[in-house]
Amino acid sequence: MESSIGTLCTPKVYNRQAMKFYVRTYGCQMNVADSNEMGRHFKARGLVETQDENEASIFLVNTCTVRQHAEDRAFSEIGRLRRWKTRHPGRKVVVTGCAAERTKEYLEDRFPFVDLVVGAKSIEDFGALTERLLDRRMTDEELDYAVPADDKVAAFVTIMRGCNYSCTYCIVPSVRGREIYHSMDQILGEGRDRVAEGAREITLLGQTVNSYRSGTHRFANLLEAVASIDGVERVRFISPHPYYMTDRVIDTMANVPQVCPSVHLPVQSGSNTMLKQMLRNYTREQYVELAAKMRRAMPGMTLSTDIIVGFPGETDDDFRQTLSLIEEIEFDWGFIFKYSPREGTPAARLECHPQELIEERHQECLELVDRIALKKRSAVLGTYQDVLVEEDNFGRTRTNYKVHVSQDVAAGEEIRVRITNTQRATLEGVIENGNVTFENFREESRNALNAG
Ligand code: SAH
Ligand code: SF4
Ligand code: F3S
Repeated sequence: MESSIGTLCTPKVYNRQAMKFYVRTYGCQMNVADSNEMGRHFKARGLVETQDENEASIFLVNTCTVRQHAEDRAFSEIGRLRRWKTRHPGRKVVVTGCAAERTKEYLEDRFPFVDLVVGAKSIEDFGALTERLLDRRMTDEELDYAVPADDKVAAFVTIMRGCNYSCTYCIVPSVRGREIYHSMDQILGEGRDRVAEGAREITLLGQTVNSYRSGTHRFANLLEAVASIDGVERVRFISPHPYYMTDRVIDTMANVPQVCPSVHLPVQSGSNTMLKQMLRNYTREQYVELAAKMRRAMPGMTLSTDIIVGFPGETDDDFRQTLSLIEEIEFDWGFIFKYSPREGTPAARLECHPQELIEERHQECLELVDRIALKKRSAVLGTYQDVLVEEDNFGRTRTNYKVHVSQDVAAGEEIRVRITNTQRATLEGVIENGNVTFENFREESRNALNAG
């Protein structure tokens, strides 16, 4: 099987083997995927990942800057690392990601003990930068052998970087640059690598993931191709943009069984005035129609969203329209964000609402979204759902509800459970006697034969 890093074989032991790295990630799935990619570069150079920062020699903070709060959290973590670093000689601090891209010089001034700063636009150069940090070049032969093992059942694959939109509140295009698409070959190669390492679910990642194009291929072609990788049982993607949610994409979702019936489609606001100010490129009516079309094509699907409250100029009436949209669509769940001005974005020049008003609207919106989410979950109570177990008896339904399974189940198994509790966002499920999936059945038959 091909690998994008090298041939798959048992990792060779190097004298660097004892050196460990610890990663803390802020922000979105794209950042999680970047952290995984950077981790693979470390592992390919013989380093081992640890979950305990005290035994690490390298601490990597992968930062986010989408809202001020996200950036502040990352910066206070970096501040804390001054002491972490001095506790053992030779320790190194690496800061990467979107806040690193936005504030590189400020970061280097404020935290002079940081050894390496890598902005989000340079993540793909991380391998070479790592060698400078470790002060050691690996030969091609060494890199070939030192293939990392990554055993995530649900893996991310980045299909494009950057964003060509200019939503007026958003810093992402400036810190991640314009869209660059990975080739189908590269994406399929990475998908196969993840499957070889234990993945059964692939989530395709991009800021407007469904705007993907490569030669004559469009996003729908990519969905089909990834779904047909041997061993891939589930395909998801995040985040699509309403503008590119074409009939082709919806048909492909409905007809390719591996593609999960769950869409996270950020709407941001229910007011056309706000959508226009935000430069979102769709109207409330178009979004409503799109939601209805998807639900007709995929009955039982889940639809979730992102909403920003308190955008500059958002009147009480605009805000009420957001609430009425939430009631009209009945999102299965949603993330509600308080507007946060980002320096350099067009909206940052507009006058902000008082913080109390933003807090109030946030609270009211959260309560509504949570009330509807609870109602939607209660419809799942008592139903049978196929859960792909990821770790520690936690897994996900095809509709992307997180489920805790009461019995012990190995990661990577897909089991059918009956949902017994939907009070919380993480559902509870049990495997019932006589309700075994084909794989369990095979295993049980094998055990019975052995016992007999
Ligand atoms: N590319 C994705 C979203 C990336 S950012 C998309 O367009 O769908 C994730 C979410 O953060 C956005 O959907 C938006 O709801 C929120 N967000 C982005 N900038 C923000 C800001 N300045 N203040 C508050 N929320 C913001
Ligand atoms: Fe930001 Fe808009 Fe691009 Fe999403 S589509 S990353 S919200 S500019
Ligand atoms: Fe993601 Fe935050 Fe960057 S949301 S793209 S990590 S600014």
